[in-house]
Amino acid sequence: MLKLVILLGLLAVLCTSHSFKEEGAVMHLTADNFTTVTGIGSEQIKKNTFVMFYTNYCPYSKKLKPIYDEFAEKTPDINVVAVNCEVNKALCKQLSIKAFPTLIYFTTDNKKIEYSSISRTLESLQNFVFSEYKQQTALDIIFKPVSEPSSAPSSNILIDQVGGFQDLNKQKLFQLNKISIKQTLLFVGILAVVVLFFLYRNFDVKKEQYTV
Ligand SMILES: *[C@@H]1O[C@H](CO)[C@@H](O)[C@H](O)[C@H]1NC(C)=O
Repeated sequence: MLKLVILLGLLAVLCTSHSFKEEGAVMHLTADNFTTVTGIGSEQIKKNTFVMFYTNYCPYSKKLKPIYDEFAEKTPDINVVAVNCEVNKALCKQLSIKAFPTLIYFTTDNKKIEYSSISRTLESLQNFVFSEYKQQTALDIIFKPVSEPSSAPSSNILIDQVGGFQDLNKQKLFQLNKISIKQTLLFVGILAVVVLFFLYRNFDVKKEQYTV
């Protein structure tokens, strides 16, 4: 039992180990200051702005966080922003964010270009914001500033008020299924070994009981 608790504890630690740097260069924005800080949703975007829309659960958002911190540090010419979509649901819904993380570049000519490459290294992010984005399809930004119900991040009331967020939740599950097959296999493997170990031990104990 104790071993099981330790094992679960270890898994929990693995699942929460990557977060943004406390005092990092990434700007953390919410519905309340997203537009005032970036200009997105106003007449004029002040500075080219790269936004990572993320959630805090495993695994791809987590994997990107340390890289994103470094990207923000080493790319001071643009705004590097992160928005937590678990808390800022209405904001993310308005921007039609359906998978996590979603990376979008908002430029000063009021266009948005989604970063769709599967490579998410510091170099590929920098290449994108400095030049590659010019070859991608730029869309008009359709966005009006939203005010987020500020209390209790994930209560039912919030979901009802925002309306339709259920779709986003479904999408989350779908994405989780798709991307974590490798991790699931690893987990099942480890679990199988642990279970076999315990079964074997129990079996041993019973054998001893019989022989005594
Ligand atoms: C935006 O607002 C959030 C929540 O109040 C705050 O934590 C964050 O530091 C603000 N970001 C900026 C750049 O003002």
